[in-house]
Amino acid sequence: ARVDKAGYKHFMAKEIAEQPQVLGDALNFYLDAEGKIALPGAGIDFAGIERLTLVACGTAYYACLTAKYWFEQLARIPVEVDVASEFRYREPPITQGTAALFVSQSGETADTLAALRYCAGKAERILSVVNVAESSIARESDLALPILAGTEIGVASTKAFSCQLTVLLLLALEAARQKGQIGAERLAELTTALRGLPAVISRALDDGAHAEAISQQLAETTDVLFLGRGLMYPLALEGALKMKEISYIHAEAYASGELKHGPIALIDKHVPVVVMAPRDGLFDKTVSNMQEVLARGGKVLLISDKAGIEAAQDGIWQSIELPQVDPVLAPILYAVPAQLIAYHTAVAKGTDVDQPRNLAKSVTVE
Ligand code: G6P
Repeated sequence: ARVDKAGYKHFMAKEIAEQPQVLGDALNFYLDAEGKIALPGAGIDFAGIERLTLVACGTAYYACLTAKYWFEQLARIPVEVDVASEFRYREPPITQGTAALFVSQSGETADTLAALRYCAGKAERILSVVNVAESSIARESDLALPILAGTEIGVASTKAFSCQLTVLLLLALEAARQKGQIGAERLAELTTALRGLPAVISRALDDGAHAEAISQQLAETTDVLFLGRGLMYPLALEGALKMKEISYIHAEAYASGELKHGPIALIDKHVPVVVMAPRDGLFDKTVSNMQEVLARGGKVLLISDKAGIEAAQDGIWQSIELPQVDPVLAPILYAVPAQLIAYHTAVAKGTDVDQPRNLAKSVTVE
């Protein structure tokens, strides 16, 4: 079927707005009426799986980095994450008990497919998380998990990213359940919270005007830094990627704790620093990094919840307030303001948002 912009100025805007709907579709697919996780086909038996190797490119790679925290913290399974172009030529040993998981929106990215083929016959299981169910990566996997984001046209991935995160979190929860690492109560709490996420994301989208206003000022800058810790570190990386892809503003992300090992040298009053920090167990650590930025005259845009913004607002330049959610789910919600500020900054600069220069939606040649 032909997909049109449905009244939106860009496909990217439409795809950002579609997230509550498509996340709901993915949740309906993976959660049964009782809220139990149901994987397609024969599912996955995690009993023989001791290790996971996650491989992808671009935005899908950041989804993998996020999933590392989930699989390690919730299921206690050690995870290695790599970009496909490095993985495929390093000839990494694939030991017994390793499941290899490939994440790809298109299912056709050349490097990711080559990495999958390298693992075939070596890994215990070949799994994939894909948007295009008939793709090469899906076909060549033992089990392909669809993300159900629907056709994504904007080159900068948005709804596919939040759906990838959702499916990866569900998979980590299923692994945690099978490995006896999560209690029934906590599992139910998290799946219930996931069920509520589409509505929470709708609220965040309804508040998008503030992100738009801030973006008018971001559009005047030449460099932006993104900081995050724990689950927010991969989100910071994704935020920086979105920003550079479509606004052409130089954007870089660091783990907050790495600030003092280099990037702090770049801080002055001209460089906005986007700090992604829900009020979770790591919040105070991130705030102390933020204070190091403020002490050097840096301009902080804090993305947090009400409690976080109240606790840390002294001296900050701008804030974007998000609804409070369980910290485990926060990456899926925090993807939204990252998308919005990149989008509105690009629109303010007048770039070709859906078809940014030099980039392709799917990189099927090396
Ligand atoms: C290209 C796209 C990105 C995407 C990456 C991986 O670089 O511009 O948006 O994240 O490829 O694509 P895949 O289809 O494998 O997820």
